[in-house]
Amino acid sequence: MAINKLKLVQAAAQARHGSVSPFSRFKVGAALLTKAGEIISGANVESASYGLTCCAERVALFKALTAGHRDFTAVAVVARCQGGPMPCGACRQLLAEYAPAARVFIVDSADLKTIRQFSVTGLLPNAFRFISLEV
Ligand code: THU
Repeated sequence: MAINKLKLVQAAAQARHGSVSPFSRFKVGAALLTKAGEIISGANVESASYGLTCCAERVALFKALTAGHRDFTAVAVVARCQGGPMPCGACRQLLAEYAPAARVFIVDSADLKTIRQFSVTGLLPNAFRFISLEV
């Protein structure tokens, strides 16, 4: 199925309105596209204990995974910053584990039609994988 990039970006821009970010006031929206064509979105949620904050990408990914989705073809991430928000290291790791084949679309909410594209392996080469040598 061909990827409707703008539709996915618009879903991420819409999800951004659900951001709970009273500390940074930096609203981020993310939307995942499944192989079957479904879109699952999320936004960042912050905590007064700052380190507990969860990025939009992970909120969307956890929503999708716990709803049973597994095959992701793309993810869009939108925030109001020049060039759009690059995913943090933690989100790159989770994307590498659960959405390794996804195209990543990064967009500034002020210009939804300018879409920067990345691959997950390009964003996180040689991602950690759990391999236990113990029996
Ligand atoms: N944030 C995201 O949601 N995704 C990113 O790609 C980068 C950062 C959030 C976390 C925090 O709520 C706020 O942006 C500022 O760091």
